[in-house]
Amino acid sequence: MSVSTQTKSDYDSYVVPSYGRLPVAFVRGAGAWLQSEGGGKYLDMYPGWGVNLVGHCHPTVVAAIRDQAGRLLHTPNNFYNPLQAQLAAEIVKRSFPGKVFFGNSGAEANEGALKLARKWGSGKGKWKFITMENSFHGRTFGALSATAQAKYHRGFEPMLPGFTYVPFGDTEAVKAAMDSETCAVMVEPIQGEGGVNVPPAGYLQALRTLCDERDCLLIFDEVQTGVARTGHWFGFQWAGVQPDVMTLAKALGGGVPVGAFVAATKVADVLQPGTHASTYGGNPLVCAAGLAVIKVIDEEQGLTRANEVQAMFRERAKALQARFNVIREIRGAGAMFGIELDKPGQAVVDACLEEHVLVNCTHEHVLRFLTSIFVTRDETDKAFAAVERGLRAL
Ligand SMILES: Cc1ncc(COP(=O)(O)O)c(C=O)c1O
Repeated sequence: MSVSTQTKSDYDSYVVPSYGRLPVAFVRGAGAWLQSEGGGKYLDMYPGWGVNLVGHCHPTVVAAIRDQAGRLLHTPNNFYNPLQAQLAAEIVKRSFPGKVFFGNSGAEANEGALKLARKWGSGKGKWKFITMENSFHGRTFGALSATAQAKYHRGFEPMLPGFTYVPFGDTEAVKAAMDSETCAVMVEPIQGEGGVNVPPAGYLQALRTLCDERDCLLIFDEVQTGVARTGHWFGFQWAGVQPDVMTLAKALGGGVPVGAFVAATKVADVLQPGTHASTYGGNPLVCAAGLAVIKVIDEEQGLTRANEVQAMFRERAKALQARFNVIREIRGAGAMFGIELDKPGQAVVDACLEEHVLVNCTHEHVLRFLTSIFVTRDETDKAFAAVERGLRAL
């Protein structure tokens, strides 16, 4: 056990038990490595569920946070905040002409995007959304209603009205589900939690065309694919299709809680004063962190590094696939990688944990790696050696 008895018993007594937890508590991190309460070292192949794209405690990010913490932590959004303005500008310069709203999480970014679409459609009688099966958009009611997975709805029904779910990758199904009341189609460019599902060629482009023809907004949930994850600044650039609204979180803050949506010029001014807000959204501390993350990606060839991660992983995963029939498919982009198995993957996760290698399994059958873009060859080799032993044990 790498969690102290005290921590474990405090959790049992005082923390809402809504998460399944592995028996480890971490107290330090650097790059791809974590140190547990017991002093053990762990190699992290999905740092922060995708948050720590530049690794744990990147020195540039830590220095920016330390510096900002000593100046000003928080001011409310009824004042100007130069760091928020700078971060918005840096995001827009790297994405598409438009404006940014800041919140605190992926779910909140998606809530904002859904509200924007509703407001945009309100004068036209448009209020419905189309989202994709196996999507994941977060746990708040709007984001949860957009998340087309019954297992996350169970016990919380009814979901909000106005959401229609169609299979991911099926353009005809979207076409059939659209009507004059549809205000937006929401999709992850690559589904993350749903199993690292890469869409069929032409799919996202077809959604763009459909939305244009039917006067609907196209929303990309880039909470996982955004900010260099795919080897491009944003997943929409990987796909070659520009959305009207894009949501971000995770990697953007490098570890501090931040969420954002970017609204293209045509909808950028839909949310006027009084229509949407967030107390903490884009405060000086998180914006200093966000600017540091962008600086690191710029200065340390982050996009190239993400693509190198994909090549490294693909090579090793293919070698495994040649030896293990249980591997059904390998897929991903940049530092986002999935190995789909014929069998549930939890046993592999457990075997890796025994060896102090942290690997995630999503959608029961998909080993998911959301590594730092700076993960090394040696670290990758070590992780794959553990995965191989885990597969042998299956
Ligand atoms: C694509 C996507 N959207 C939204 C979310 C929700 O983000 P958060 O947990 O920060 O609310 C996630 C989280 O995994 C995600 O992967």
